[in-house]
Amino acid sequence: MSIDEAIKGRRSVRTYKGTDVDERLIRQCIEAATFAPSAKNGQQWRFTVLTGESKDRFTEMYRSELSKATFDVGSSFGSCTMMEEAPVVILVWNTSELGWSTEAHIVSAAIQNLLLKAHSLGLGTCWIGDVFYTYEAIMDHFKKSWKLMAAITMGWPDEILGKRPRLSVDEVSEFLY
Ligand SMILES: Cc1cc2nc3c(=O)[nH]c(=O)nc-3n(C[C@H](O)[C@H](O)[C@H](O)COP(=O)(O)O)c2cc1C
Repeated sequence: MSIDEAIKGRRSVRTYKGTDVDERLIRQCIEAATFAPSAKNGQQWRFTVLTGESKDRFTEMYRSELSKATFDVGSSFGSCTMMEEAPVVILVWNTSELGWSTEAHIVSAAIQNLLLKAHSLGLGTCWIGDVFYTYEAIMDHFKKSWKLMAAITMGWPDEILGKRPRLSVDEVSEFLY
């Protein structure tokens, strides 16, 4: 797959087949993530891969926390269902060891690499920010000293997606001479 095919063909996949994903493929995606650039090569990304019962325990906790929320949780119940149905959920952390704001950028670059590698392998993924609605509960569940950055669902796509509209180069850039 060419770089353009990977970048332009990737879509957020929210419907997955029941088939498991071989751990070797998950490892390949994480390895791709580790090739992202990072300030001073700090590599502050960390990944927790959930499958099977560990995933069930996580989604049960997440759904229960969402149910208790007294504020609008946006699309979180849909994201929860997606995580319940996907064979793999990856929690992405920022070790935040230096306290730099760039650490968040570093981890985001790694996430994008991971998504693109997954797409190149025929896997579908979706980057989930809805985990921030229950940030404290998730931190309590995993007891990490790191900062939660995102969840990613992963699995074999069970939907065919067309293109989503994008702003044009002219709409998002200016060239100063
Ligand atoms: C930081 C971030 C958070 C996101 N959070 C969610 C989410 O919580 N639930 C969800 O279904 N999709 C989520 N998405 C996926 C976006 O909705 C999706 O990337 C966007 O609509 C563009 O579609 P595409 O990825 O198919 O190109 C998120 C994407 C990003 C980058």
